[in-house]
Amino acid sequence: MMKETYIKDILKEDLVGKEVSIKGWVYRMRDMKDKVFFVIRDPTGIIQAVVKKDNVNENIWNDALKFQIEGSLELKGILKKDERAPTGYEIEVKDIKVYDYGQPFPLKGDEEIDTIQKYRHLWIRTKWFVDILKVKHSLLKNLREWYINDGWYEVQPPILVGNAAENTTELFEVKYFDQKAYLSQSAQLYLEALIFSLGKVYSLTPSFRAEFSRTKRHLHEYWHFEIEAAWYHLEDLIKAVEESLKYSIEKTIEERKSEFEDLKSITGRDIKELKDFVEKPWKILKYEDGIKKLKDLGINIRYGDDLGSDEERILTQQFDVPIFLTYYPREVKAFYMYENGDGTVKNFDLLAPEGYGEIIGGSEREWRYNILDQKIKEWKLDSLKIEVGNEEIDAYEWYKDLRRYGSVPHSGMGLGLERFTRWICKMDHIRDTLAFPRLRGGWLYP
Ligand code: 4AD
Ligand code: MG
Repeated sequence: MMKETYIKDILKEDLVGKEVSIKGWVYRMRDMKDKVFFVIRDPTGIIQAVVKKDNVNENIWNDALKFQIEGSLELKGILKKDERAPTGYEIEVKDIKVYDYGQPFPLKGDEEIDTIQKYRHLWIRTKWFVDILKVKHSLLKNLREWYINDGWYEVQPPILVGNAAENTTELFEVKYFDQKAYLSQSAQLYLEALIFSLGKVYSLTPSFRAEFSRTKRHLHEYWHFEIEAAWYHLEDLIKAVEESLKYSIEKTIEERKSEFEDLKSITGRDIKELKDFVEKPWKILKYEDGIKKLKDLGINIRYGDDLGSDEERILTQQFDVPIFLTYYPREVKAFYMYENGDGTVKNFDLLAPEGYGEIIGGSEREWRYNILDQKIKEWKLDSLKIEVGNEEIDAYEWYKDLRRYGSVPHSGMGLGLERFTRWICKMDHIRDTLAFPRLRGGWLYP
């Protein structure tokens, strides 16, 4: 195994006076005639380094002068304490190994979005964005950890699929030899098949949505964390969701103290707010009561309307915790949700507080064959055919089979990882929760 030394490993009292060596990139640079001050960065932090003309040979001195911001190098020198240095330590440089002097860096840090889009591959080095990536890493790792500890299996559903899981108007179509295929919107239907083998399953996959909306919370490709469990009813699902998200948030706060410290000055996220969300019980509210509340606030909305992002924002601002908004009217939700028989379905949308709105959609599934069959007809999904060997069969036939051979009650949900990260980091736009967002208007580059 390669022994690497990172900046965080040398910011240590007991290394003062000793020789240290680090590899990294020039973060800042100042030329003072007989000294060059560098701030070097690596994935773990920054450290100041000083090259003194009198202390090094001419080659090293000349090298030092040639660097540009983001040039790459290895430095060797003596670690000193210095109160004036950004992290309290400084390396007095004895030797420099040049990897690349670099060229004038095209980003200074105050660019408009068009420039950032063109240089996205370089922009992702931005300090606060690196913080976001680390927080996102922890959120996901800790979410997975909760499910693994609770006995769930990770599975790998396909991305090239023959039928829609969600809205058929939002499908990306691709050529699959001489057949049509789509990029998956959700792993749900496959996870439903897998619960008969494994009981409780989860997956992390990219999901694709060709929706037209251009908002601060929509991506055309996002990472979807989905779960599905046999024997679970809606209440069991809500419990698992609340517990797992609280676990993930709490552990992430612990692991990412310094990142949240930085983010506080960028997005205003204070971990005290997050701790509050972890400590308080989350709200369960029926759609019907949500609509009443919105009407009381003077919002023009009727029972039967879906909530848009404005309505969600206003509703979440009435509570100081996330809301499980449950029992939506059947018409505004997907065909696979369990029918209560009164025009509502057993579902929830989890609305993140502070105006963020939906970050999860989940439901108990319609597991009764006859009712599901009727709904597939009602939603006109029975007209979709697919080639299987030499036959042409209904695209949803396999899904109906799950209700023919040992059907059981079951429930599941899908969390948009970028939406979750956006809320936790208190960000304005979802595009900065991932390195290479897919949006319309030239966002296939890079
Ligand atoms: O509410 P949705 O469409 O539900 C499903 O896909 C279910 N089949 C999930 C399941 O039960 N297994 O999507 C689930 C979540 C949303 O709550 C949202 O967080 C995220 O996926 N999402 C998006 N995130 C970013 N950009 C988009 N365009 C998104 N569309 C959905
Ligand atoms: Mg939804």
